[in-house]
Amino acid sequence: MSDHAFDLLFIGGGPAGYVGAIRAAQLGFKTACVERYPSLGGTCLNVGCIPSKALLESSEHFATARKDLASHGVRVAQVDLDLTTLLQRKSDVVTQLTNGINHLFKKNKITRITGHAAFIDPHTLRVRHQDAEEIVRADRIIIATGSKPTPLPHLPFNAPFIVSSTGALSFTEVPKHLIVVGAGVIGLELGSVWARLGAKVSFIEAMPKILGANDSEICRHAMRYFKKQGMDFFLDAKVQDATIDPDAAQVTVTYQSPKGSHQIVGDRLLVAVGRQPYTQGLDLDRIGLSLDERGRIPVDDHFATAVPGVYAVGDVIAGPMLAHKAEHDAITCVEGLRGMASLVNHHTIPYIAYTQPEIAGVGHTEDHLQAQGIPYRKGTFPFLANGRAKAMAQTDGMVKILVERDSDRILGAHIVGPRAGDLIAEVVLAMEFGASAEDLYRTCHAHPNLGEAIKEAALATDGRSLAM
Ligand code: FAD
Ligand code: NAI
Repeated sequence: MSDHAFDLLFIGGGPAGYVGAIRAAQLGFKTACVERYPSLGGTCLNVGCIPSKALLESSEHFATARKDLASHGVRVAQVDLDLTTLLQRKSDVVTQLTNGINHLFKKNKITRITGHAAFIDPHTLRVRHQDAEEIVRADRIIIATGSKPTPLPHLPFNAPFIVSSTGALSFTEVPKHLIVVGAGVIGLELGSVWARLGAKVSFIEAMPKILGANDSEICRHAMRYFKKQGMDFFLDAKVQDATIDPDAAQVTVTYQSPKGSHQIVGDRLLVAVGRQPYTQGLDLDRIGLSLDERGRIPVDDHFATAVPGVYAVGDVIAGPMLAHKAEHDAITCVEGLRGMASLVNHHTIPYIAYTQPEIAGVGHTEDHLQAQGIPYRKGTFPFLANGRAKAMAQTDGMVKILVERDSDRILGAHIVGPRAGDLIAEVVLAMEFGASAEDLYRTCHAHPNLGEAIKEAALATDGRSLAM
């Protein structure tokens, strides 16, 4: 047993913990980070954002080579899938990035402690690793323990047949028929990967629409494009159970829809019905810290919990469970401890689903404005009328911009279409500066560029579209 004391310590080495630790060290705090896995980077780098995007990229190349190159006059004699190389590349990308964090920790003189942390008191942790145990003290402890997949009690994970996102990142063969429970962002991204590689993919979704609380109009368009790619959607469908037949290598899922009870048979089942905050084994009760009704750690605007000296950031607190939000929380929290500006503007956190086409958004959805009775104007523009999208042969989709009716201030933007994830950044910045639609459309946009669709949608909010 050893004894260590730090100014500041993060529990968890994900985007919140590792980015926050680097910033803390830069600001002169004697900093430590406790992570129970040997690899830093958390969910995002190890089993989330990065491996899923590596698979999305590779599978898109495969699908393009198989289906889309011919229309560009590029003939490919035969396109074969080498899944082993594809999966190895994904692992290599993860390793390079997680090693990069090790390097940054060393450079910034951050002490990395491997093991599972539990509170003894608000300034003291017991860290267990295999048979060893050490006691670590810090003036301030920031909980950044993230989240984990939400299991469905009647569909327990049972690899290789019934898996969470982690299992679906590493199927060693392309499923023949992948059934996905939950048409949220994980289901759609990982469903897209395996559909592009040749699987039949069927979604069973409890709600009458895909992608949860995202803008309904955008989701409707997106679902149409996904159906064109061969994916099946069963909406308003409640899963009742799943039975595995290991001999036939089959999973049979029973679900209830307004039309009655149905069965669907596949060889793999991905359950992706959301993620839940991870606080197990932290012994929060020993420091008198209670969770909210959704298992999150309550914090104030400066990320302080109810226990002096203890803070929380990232997926384990309220707000969207996104890596960039987690990083933003952590940096803001640490800078706040040095007396710097310390508020996160939750209204301008963008989301992106890296499907084909991509889906991205920021701010209010149209559904929300209607529900709240907020007066608004709306401008839309289809990629079909954008020169660059035509040249790319990627004309599916649209941009939608929502502005306050009288002030013209941008309230939200939602995009489904090529490079939507890159395009949304312009609107995020505009909203961060409190810009109006006029600010957007009076900004000179290069031609021919996908960004012109943003300008056109902004013009359309004012009824002065040029290209429509
Ligand atoms: P985490 O990344 O979950 O890290 C928490 C860390 O704490 C973990 O490493 C855990 O081992 C450690 N830990 C927990 N308890 C203890 C303890 N008691 N002691 C020591 N260590 C502990 N977000 C995006 O923005 N873009 C994307 O494209 C994206 N894609 C995703 C794809 C998938 C398949 C998944 C599952 C998630 C994706 N996300 C994406 C979400 C993103 O991964 C999370 O929002 C992000 O990782 C949250 O960061 P965090 O640091 O709060 O938590
Ligand atoms: P999600 O919340 O995005 O979607 C879950 C879906 O499952 C919803 O549509 C919901 O209605 C549905 N559902 C819930 N219970 C159900 C049931 N019993 N039967 C059928 N459907 C049910 O959650 P998901 O996809 O698991 O992702 C978790 C989180 O991870 C996301 O919310 C996001 O924060 C993060 N993530 C972000 C990514 C990105 O930014 N590109 C990519 C992947 C994950």
